[in-house]
Formats: sequence, C-alpha cells, structure tokens
Amino acid sequence: MNRDLAVEALCVTYGGIVAVDSLSLEVRSGQLVGLIGPNGAGKTTTVDAVCGFTAHTGVVRLGDRNLSRAPAHLRARAGIARTWQSVELFEDLTVRQHCAVAAHQGSFTDLLLDAVAPRRKGAVAGSEAALETMGLIDVADERPGELPHGTQKLVGVARALASSPAVLMLDEPAAGLDSQESMEFGRRLRSVVDSGPGALLIDHDTQLVMDVCDHVYVVDFGSVIASGPPEQVRNDPVVVEAYLGVGAHRLVDDTGRSDTGHSEAAPTSGGAS
Ligand SMILES: Nc1ncnc2c1ncn2[C@@H]1O[C@H](COP(=O)(O)OP(=O)(O)O)[C@@H](O)[C@H]1O
Ligand SMILES: [Mg+2]
Repeated sequence: MNRDLAVEALCVTYGGIVAVDSLSLEVRSGQLVGLIGPNGAGKTTTVDAVCGFTAHTGVVRLGDRNLSRAPAHLRARAGIARTWQSVELFEDLTVRQHCAVAAHQGSFTDLLLDAVAPRRKGAVAGSEAALETMGLIDVADERPGELPHGTQKLVGVARALASSPAVLMLDEPAAGLDSQESMEFGRRLRSVVDSGPGALLIDHDTQLVMDVCDHVYVVDFGSVIASGPPEQVRNDPVVVEAYLGVGAHRLVDDTGRSDTGHSEAAPTSGGAS
C-alpha cells in the first residue's frame, strides 16, 4: 500500500504574513527527508499545516487519501505523526506510558475492545519497539522530568514512533543534543526509516541533516528555494548565496559541525523558530 506523503502548493497566511507560500514536497516511505531554512522561513508552520493544526490551502495527500480537509486527529490516525519543537511531555507519566498511550491511539471501537481485552499485543509491541529503537529501554520506567533535556527529546520521538506512523514529522528533535548524541540520534533515525516509515527532519544542525538525509528541501520566505540529494543542495549556488550567506563555509566544510543555527546568515529576522 502506498503511504507516501505528498504536499502540493501548500499556503498558510497569518493575518498579512504569508508564512508558507505554495510549498510542495514529498516524503516517501523509507525515506529520510531534510527541511532546512533560516529562522522564520516557515518550517514549523509547514509541519503545523500538514498535521492539520493550522488552516491552509493546497493539497496534503497520504498515499491515495486526500487529507487536505481532514482535522488533525484524523490526519494522525491516517498515519501522520509529529514531534513538537519544544518538548511537550506529561510530568506524571513514565517514558513507557508515554509510548503506550500513543500506541493505543485508535477509534472509539478500539477503546471498547481495549476495555474487553486490554493490552492489545500489537500496541504493546509497537510501544516497546519504539523504546528500543530510540535507546530508551533503560529509562523506560522513569518520568521525563528526571531525564536530561536531550533524552526528553528522544522520548518525544519515541512517542511519535509508537503510533506506527506512515510518516514522522520531526521539528528540531536534535536541539539540545551534543554532537555525539546528535550522531547517535542520526543513526537511530536511519534505522527508523529503514524499518518502513518516511520521516521529515527539521534541524538547525545542517551537518546532521546533510549526513543522514536522502533528500533535502531548503526553504526561505515560505517557499522551496532548492531541493535534491544533500551533495547537490550543499553546493547549490542559490542556497549558498540566498540562504547560507556568510555561514556557507559551515555547510561545505565537512570537518566542522554546524550546531549553532544560521541566524547570523539568515536574511529573515525575528519570528518564531
Ligand atoms: N501563530 C502564528 N501567528 C502569527 N504568525 C506566525 C505564527 N506562527 C508563525 N508565524 C510567522 O510565520 C513565519 C514562519 O514561522 P515558522 O514556521 O515558525 O518558521 P521556522 O519554523 O522556519 O523558524 C514567521 O514569520 C513567523 O513569525
Ligand atoms: Mg520552527
């Protein structure tokens, strides 16, 4: 079954601000796709729109299903899962419980079935697999508040993964990780997509995105200004000039890790990141 995500001519406006301007992208199953761009470029808004959290025009399709008019919960149920830019976890649930709740997401009928025959095997397996994939088994019974910020971000990813999504939308999941953790995170993400789902990775760490992604989109002012395999995008003069500016050496220098974002190179200013 085709479960590829296709976004066509997506537009989002906030008052007079065009946050996303006719943006199209594709995330196929098993593909890790990067989305990079300066602060305020429209990356988070794109995820918000695709997930149904903000009003948009344009088309959002998952496989054969046109979800453009579906509310957020139906998009999630169809298989679009996301993480949040800021960690949004419950204080009084353990790491394992976070994943278990996500794995049990379902219809009202599922809830009734759970009441009759709790702990459906598939959901438990999905939850444990997500913990395993993100390397969280050892901390599964702890509460997120007791864990370092970097580990909390991994819990957010595991929770999204536990719902067995078709596509995972990751909004700056590696923020707060040191470069060692970031590399480990990239390795884990590869094994996630190798096991089936597609993933869209937004991150300020352009080196991480270039290292692990199959395909990269660069956005600025709400539009895609370049896309292609990392090695192509890395050397695209439009990207280097229009987006990377004075920070361009960071992208082309394989020895250095860009983990500070590119606000000094960003043509846009301010705005939510
Ligand atoms: N809820 C909102 N209300 C009004 N403007 C917003 C809102 N969210 C984002 N914006 C604006 O939309 C643009 C894109 O923001 P955002 O998607 O957060 O960028 P990015 O994630 O690439 O940093 C920015 O100009 C930002 O100020
Ligand atoms: Mg953002």
